[in-house]
Amino acid sequence: MAIDSHSMHTHTCGELRADNIGQTVTLTGWVRARRDFGGLIFIDLRDREGLTQVFFDPDLCSPEVFAAAETVRPEWPILVEGEVRHRIEGQTNPNLATGEIELLCTRVEVLNSSKTPPFQIEDHIETSEDLRLKYRYLDIRRPKMMSNLKLRSDFTFAIRQALHDRAFMEVETPALFKSTPEGARDFLVPSRTQPGHFYALPQSPQLLKQLLMVGGVERYYQVAKCFRDEDLRADRQPEFTQVDIEMSFVEQDDVMGALEDVLSDAFAKVGVEMPTPLRRLSYWDAMDTYGIDKPDTRIGMELHDVTSIFAESGFKLFASAANAEGQHIKAICAPGAGVWGRSKIDKLADVAASFGAKGLAWVAFKENGAVQSPIAKFLSDAEMDALKAEMGANPGDLILFAVGGRLQTDEILGGMRNHMADVLEIPREGHDFLWVVDFPLFHWDEERQAYAAEHQPFTQPNEEDIDKLETDPLACGSHTYDFVMDGYEAGGGGMRIHNAELQMRILKLLGFTPERARAQFGFLMDALEYGAPPMGGFALGLDRVCMLLAGLDSIRDVMAFPKTSSGSDLMSEAPSEVTDAQLNELSLRTTL
Ligand code: AMO
Repeated sequence: MAIDSHSMHTHTCGELRADNIGQTVTLTGWVRARRDFGGLIFIDLRDREGLTQVFFDPDLCSPEVFAAAETVRPEWPILVEGEVRHRIEGQTNPNLATGEIELLCTRVEVLNSSKTPPFQIEDHIETSEDLRLKYRYLDIRRPKMMSNLKLRSDFTFAIRQALHDRAFMEVETPALFKSTPEGARDFLVPSRTQPGHFYALPQSPQLLKQLLMVGGVERYYQVAKCFRDEDLRADRQPEFTQVDIEMSFVEQDDVMGALEDVLSDAFAKVGVEMPTPLRRLSYWDAMDTYGIDKPDTRIGMELHDVTSIFAESGFKLFASAANAEGQHIKAICAPGAGVWGRSKIDKLADVAASFGAKGLAWVAFKENGAVQSPIAKFLSDAEMDALKAEMGANPGDLILFAVGGRLQTDEILGGMRNHMADVLEIPREGHDFLWVVDFPLFHWDEERQAYAAEHQPFTQPNEEDIDKLETDPLACGSHTYDFVMDGYEAGGGGMRIHNAELQMRILKLLGFTPERARAQFGFLMDALEYGAPPMGGFALGLDRVCMLLAGLDSIRDVMAFPKTSSGSDLMSEAPSEVTDAQLNELSLRTTL
């Protein structure tokens, strides 16, 4: 797309084609490279839209222009004017959008010089990410980074439009708000005017959007910055963006239907088809089949419960699990891994340990029909045959087992399944979209020895479970849905409690005293008493979705200025120390 005419240039560096031959044009951009050839100079000029070859011939331009062309170096910004002409025979480049033409330069303006950049401004460079982040403004000049940011801009625009078209209203909510932890740690901001008091940056606009529903906004959205002080990973940043959505006077299917419309519309605008209605998997089906609540269903290797096969097994571990209440033996079959050598297979036990396994039993089917396994000698032929049939194992496959409770075996094999898919480089074509629904309302938090909200404390329990909230909290289901894309949790939401009394019951179960609940959520409890409507919503992790759309595996690559895993901005060196005067003003002292 062209940048309009209010610029120093007439065209962008990605725009000129054979149709423009004969036209006099002006381009601006950075010198990507200069090549001198027997008295002729070629410059590749780059801007955000592409690359154009600029040609200087001393016979066809003034000596001043030629002399200027001789001085320019990579990354100098320049302006060039001249005539578009066909490249000479054999010089056309079919891999470049502008590869048919070049600009015969008759005027050049050097707009600035540049130091030699610390890395080449090219795709496929071998440089550390730290260096790229330190000089992020140079990194952004690289075509891939630029296209990532463009894709993000296009998708964000598309989803805003899709929401606007459906009567959603964008409402901004404050970034300086109250500390209302939702699961992660808060970032705090000290108040100068009220010493000893703090704002918190919102982990999400959750409570505020519920209040907007009480306020009658009915359909809200916001492209919202969220802040969570948690351990960082490739798909997590301390500061990230949600497309935050809430609706009122709706039931769960209304919200999910509206979300499917909005998402498929926005995806279509960036060339991705998301078929609707989306598949729905219940939380427990997802866990039991894929071992994870955000499955990538493209990679196969489903979990099988093989407990019943081993009821009378000679392998003690299996037999006792098969005969114990609540214990399971589950397995996955990794295609092609059976040919691995024994030591390579044995090393998988360390991987399994990282997912909570105490050991890893396995059976390898060799391509010559032999079976290799540390437990084979304890298994009967009938067990082996039944196992093979249940798992659909072929010669060359490897079966991995997990033994333990339902969730424990699910999680071990869920982790192994993803690990094996990565190691075996199982192809993942197209995108994989689905809903995971019906999460439990609570889980047991071992560390805190308390119930914790599976999604968040404001989630509507299933109506039929409300009676057993206090008696059997872990058995209570909820109105929740996660949007899963390519094995990532790309979004999540649910219906909300709109009844003050029920909200208080839930907070109590989560360990709040009425006083603490009031202190932290008093404004919500108050609002719920003023005619709060039924409501539900969702938040899309914009960074993650853009990462997946761009085919990347780190959200840092779709963020202009991301932070490192230790939370630093390498360019500005934030976080940084502040002066004593600043601290005094805030009535703060550090204990360092
Ligand atoms: P949740 O906490 O599931 O829900 O967040 C919604 C989505 O935001 C993305 N996400 C992140 N992306 C990058 N870095 C992070 N640190 C990070 N944390 C979360 C994920 C996730 O699915 N208020 C609720 C939503 C609701 O119920 O409406 C919420 O914030 O893609």
